Amino acid sequence: MKEKRPVPGNLYLIGFMGSGKSAAAGFLNRNYNMPLIEMDQEIEKNEGMPPAEIFAEKGEEYFRDLETRLLGRLQKASGIVVSCGGGVPMRPENVEMMKNSGKIVLLTASPETILERVSRNNDRPVLAGRKTISGIRELMEKRRPAYEAAADLVVENDKESLEEVCRRILEVFS
Ligand code: S3P
Repeated sequence: MKEKRPVPGNLYLIGFMGSGKSAAAGFLNRNYNMPLIEMDQEIEKNEGMPPAEIFAEKGEEYFRDLETRLLGRLQKASGIVVSCGGGVPMRPENVEMMKNSGKIVLLTASPETILERVSRNNDRPVLAGRKTISGIRELMEKRRPAYEAAADLVVENDKESLEEVCRRILEVFS
């Protein structure tokens, strides 16, 4: 039997590409009955093309505006888990919306783990030319202050099981 939905407000999962947001959000969806919004997929559905193509054809700012608009629409929802694109916390207005409508959990992993996870595909334009430990570390360090300032809770997701990671994520609501 599925567990009762545990949260008031929304649960926003943030973190670097490959930090495991989608896997954790999927687990929470399946096991805790939380409706799931995967921001990249939602944007792809609305625009009829994946983020990489949007970046290439319309530019990064256009994509970032789509993220902000989507977050705006999610303000009306409650009790959903949102797997955010890695760039979402870089806009202060996005962070403000998330803070006003739920809890924010930052997932972290080492550059080594991230590289292993992202090397399987080529669908992340911001990683073009930086799929190395040092390239990933550099961008991660640039983003770290914004990620950490946004987070209500930080959960390491390097070697822990998905169950354990999700159990810790839900502690943000206790
Ligand atoms: C991005 C992360 C991607 C996607 C886009 C940009 C980023 O999402 O939104 O390629 O700037 O970090 P994931 O974090 O789900 O890979």
